[in-house]
Amino acid sequence: MYSKKVLTRFENPKHVKAMANPSSTGQVGNPACGDVMKIFLKIKDNQIIDASVQTYGCVAAIAASDALCEIVIGKTIAEAEALTFQDVLNVLGEVPQLKVHCSQLGISALKKAINEYKTGNSEDQKCKTCPGYNKLKEKSNA
Ligand code: FES
Repeated sequence: MYSKKVLTRFENPKHVKAMANPSSTGQVGNPACGDVMKIFLKIKDNQIIDASVQTYGCVAAIAASDALCEIVIGKTIAEAEALTFQDVLNVLGEVPQLKVHCSQLGISALKKAINEYKTGNSEDQKCKTCPGYNKLKEKSNA
């Protein structure tokens, strides 16, 4: 059963939305259920000045990713890289044991977004090398 704190955050998330022109993004899936999470970061002078997330997942995944956004805003890249799942739990409160994996998706998405920022290798860039990407683009331009 979820705690009141987790349910309150799930019902009133502050950071669940797409972001226009993010500095980087990180997307991960939960192989156990097929759900997907994408985090958006806006970075200026090596500091995360905004974060948001789109989460197609359960109560724990949505509440934990919202809490993670709250935590990373204002952090430097190095500080954000050092975050762990325990930092999320410290803000979110405990989650049911069965939902721990769902709650960790945000940290994985964050690491991917930071890696994208540092290396310049975005998922979108990789997709551009795929023939399917160009077919989709042709269709949308038709
Ligand atoms: Fe899919 Fe939790 S059940 S993210």
